[in-house]
Amino acid sequence: MKYKFSKYVFVAPLALAIGCGGSKQPVAQQPVVQTEKTGIDRKVDSVLALMTLEEKVGQMNQYNGFWEVTGPAPKDGAAAIKYDHLKKGWVGSMLNVRGVKDVKALQKIAVEETRLHIPVIFGFDVIHGYKTVSPIPLAESASWDMEAIQQSAEIAAAEAAASGLNWTFAPMVDVSRDARWGRVMEGAGEDPFLNSRIAEARVKGFQGDLGELSLAACVKHFAGYAFAESGRDYNTVDVSDNTLHNIILPPFKAASDAGALTFMNSFNELEGIPSTGNGYLQRELLKGEWGFKGFVVSDWGSMGEMIPHGYAKDLKDAAMKAANAGSDMDMESSGYIEHLAALVKEGKVSQEKVDDAVRRILRVKFMLGLFDNPYKYCDETREKETIGKKEFHDGVLDMAKKSIVLLKNEKNLLPLAKQGKKIALIGALANDKTSPLGSWRIGADDGTAVSVLEGMQQYKGNQLTYTKGADVALGKPVFVSETHINTTDKSGFAEAVKAAKAADVVVMVLGEHGLQTGEGRSRSDLGLPGVQQELLETIYKANPNIVLVLNNGRPLALPWAAENIPAIVEAWHLGTEAGNAVAQVLYGDYNPSGKLPMSFPRNVGQVPIYYNHKTTGRPGNGQPTESVFWSHYTDVANSPQYPFGYGLSYTTFSYGNLKISGNSFGKNGKITVTVDVTNTGKVEGKEIVQLYLHDLVASVTRPVRELKGFKNISLKPGETKTVSFIIDEELVTFYTANKKFEAEPGDFTVFVGGDSNATLNASFSYTE
Ligand code: NOJ
Repeated sequence: MKYKFSKYVFVAPLALAIGCGGSKQPVAQQPVVQTEKTGIDRKVDSVLALMTLEEKVGQMNQYNGFWEVTGPAPKDGAAAIKYDHLKKGWVGSMLNVRGVKDVKALQKIAVEETRLHIPVIFGFDVIHGYKTVSPIPLAESASWDMEAIQQSAEIAAAEAAASGLNWTFAPMVDVSRDARWGRVMEGAGEDPFLNSRIAEARVKGFQGDLGELSLAACVKHFAGYAFAESGRDYNTVDVSDNTLHNIILPPFKAASDAGALTFMNSFNELEGIPSTGNGYLQRELLKGEWGFKGFVVSDWGSMGEMIPHGYAKDLKDAAMKAANAGSDMDMESSGYIEHLAALVKEGKVSQEKVDDAVRRILRVKFMLGLFDNPYKYCDETREKETIGKKEFHDGVLDMAKKSIVLLKNEKNLLPLAKQGKKIALIGALANDKTSPLGSWRIGADDGTAVSVLEGMQQYKGNQLTYTKGADVALGKPVFVSETHINTTDKSGFAEAVKAAKAADVVVMVLGEHGLQTGEGRSRSDLGLPGVQQELLETIYKANPNIVLVLNNGRPLALPWAAENIPAIVEAWHLGTEAGNAVAQVLYGDYNPSGKLPMSFPRNVGQVPIYYNHKTTGRPGNGQPTESVFWSHYTDVANSPQYPFGYGLSYTTFSYGNLKISGNSFGKNGKITVTVDVTNTGKVEGKEIVQLYLHDLVASVTRPVRELKGFKNISLKPGETKTVSFIIDEELVTFYTANKKFEAEPGDFTVFVGGDSNATLNASFSYTE
């Protein structure tokens, strides 16, 4: 990867007390994401030994930015109290403060005015870019390209770190099966294996070598948050142990193993216990079994939310339960700062528990080099030189193109000819420079994305006309101005129809505004918001040669479009370079290769829908068509509109010659699966070759198939490549009826192909 920087040696914390900023000699290059550092624990202990109980509790306290740092110090109210806490060394971390000037001013108070001079760690939601924005994480996941995803995280980290930040609240690794949940945009979709690989790539990308352009990662939301009932954000979660261990937890484990420095717990309950107070998750599993050495931050106010959950009677009770469960840092509940010292004195929380939490927090600060140089991230020249670099724009453009999924391409509508055509571009989103930035891009400025209109205007050989047609219809409440609110206005239809009639091809950009997904943005309808569906059908009557470019942060259910519209391009919310990426794909300068990381349903009633479901006792194979007594709907097929792993290219691929090196293997053994993939079309293209396993009979029922491998290959027309996968014990291991991970002897089917409906298959057995 590109952005690597040298390490710094650390100095004892007391050096700071006598005004020494620490040495800056580079030491030898270390492997990416190194969580062990010789001597750090000793240094941590030496700081801990100097701390009062109140100072320790202060390290466990995180405040949101509470005052305009450039203005006068706050004199009254909550801000004045927080300011006082900062000066006393009672603030371990702050969030939502950014920019070198502000960060430096606050850090100065922490390291120059407090008794022990312990630096603050500054966190921010750097989810898919900071100023130069990459596609939303769900879109990036459609690339299945781990190198590109890692690089995207590196770019995000470089810009944010240059802006004074040390810590991002990402990656979100919540496996999501319910498109109604607005936060599916923030994760890697429905599959635990893909989620795990992407979690690793993102952790490595953010943390890099922990140099001055890296950030500590924060893996969230631990755990189960995406399983909110009915897809309604913050709703109750009730999942089985089987689902928890086999589906939800693997990406968290992978991220922890990849060296993530911090975790965030979640708003939801699990088995009736809110995650913030969940000792099994945080203490026993994460810090115990998994050996995680970093710290856990609560989600925003989640400690206090244990009261309305009905799990704590007041904030003191909540603080006690959170501390005893291993939630190390309190984000904005003030539960620890108000009550933890008293709880320790009353013997309700042990001193050891507090010490453990503080050790973990200090350790991360040491690892980031903040004790060595608290202003490590505060260089105004670097800030100016780093943010918005040309290579970052190139990087997010590359990521955006790789994220696009071609869902349908009939009548050879795509790619568009570059000369002599009349093209009508329709849709409010086509001319929007903010929406493509998507949700969770709070570091970026509105209006900084390249719109599809601007992207298409780069191609000058055609005659391009633009009309809005209709607004997106955001609905309220959303954190956006009055644009796109209107839900019924069809006054723009006539002009759009006129443009469509005069055109050879119509490109319609429809879907969700970038702020229509994300936290608190659950929807009960997965269609096109407002009058956009009506606009689509109206234009279709005027000119059916429509290329539908979808902008959305979640799978949509668009059965009419899937049936009638000849070409559909899934273009998500693609970030700063969105319009350029879309135009390059539409004009064939880039051959799309993305594959869906989530199933697209036929209607909302199918949700949650995911490819790795169980067979059930009544799968319906061979049922007479008139029978109703099998697991199905009477009004819609069981299958999704577009399955997980699906995506087309401007070329075609064929799969054949599936071979397996043996019929069986046992412990420590393995077999190799090979398949020949041929480019049967006329242009060069990339294919994501996917391998799925079905464990036929086990101590607990197993999914109909599970992704267990994938490879990205590029093929010239007529070219064939043999792709191989190794299947070993780890790939057949799962959380069994014995409540542990193990491989059970039995028979398996392996499927290989270009999506989760792959039919090419072979069999093998795992023997003891
Ligand atoms: C609440 C969100 O759930 C979490 O993901 C985010 O990091 C925090 N707020 C901080 O903004």
